[in-house]
Amino acid sequence: GAPVEQDISKLEPGAVVKVNWRGQAIFIVRRSPEMMKQLEDPALADKLRDPKSEQSEQPEYAKNDARSLKPEYLVLVGVCTHLGCAPLSRFQPADAELGADWPGGFYCPCHGSKFDLAGRVFKDVPAPTNLKVPPYRFVTDGVVQIG
Ligand code: FES
Repeated sequence: GAPVEQDISKLEPGAVVKVNWRGQAIFIVRRSPEMMKQLEDPALADKLRDPKSEQSEQPEYAKNDARSLKPEYLVLVGVCTHLGCAPLSRFQPADAELGADWPGGFYCPCHGSKFDLAGRVFKDVPAPTNLKVPPYRFVTDGVVQIG
């Protein structure tokens, strides 16, 4: 499949846009300063199965805590690493369904896998690895190319 481009110049902090690439949903999230701060919470790393993304799939340039080229923007394959369902974006902290200590991220309704705001999987859920980061680049500050 050919690469796809997405204009992100009007994406608000805390918002997500979905793009189709090779028949897969790609999430592009513009993280707010609060969301970026969540990723630095040392208590969060303890709850994650692979906080350093050692077992997980991402390009070399996304092998960091934010799992991204620019900390403000997260680009993720929206396919659960358990059995391939579509995770939902659930960015509201203290989400009633997900518990008072929910820091925000992605939730797969099929079997309850939870991922943080960098797509990193929590312990004690069926998904084995973090959500994948696809290859991407910024064509300009306001345009991302996937693939
Ligand atoms: Fe997502 Fe099973 S497919 S938890």
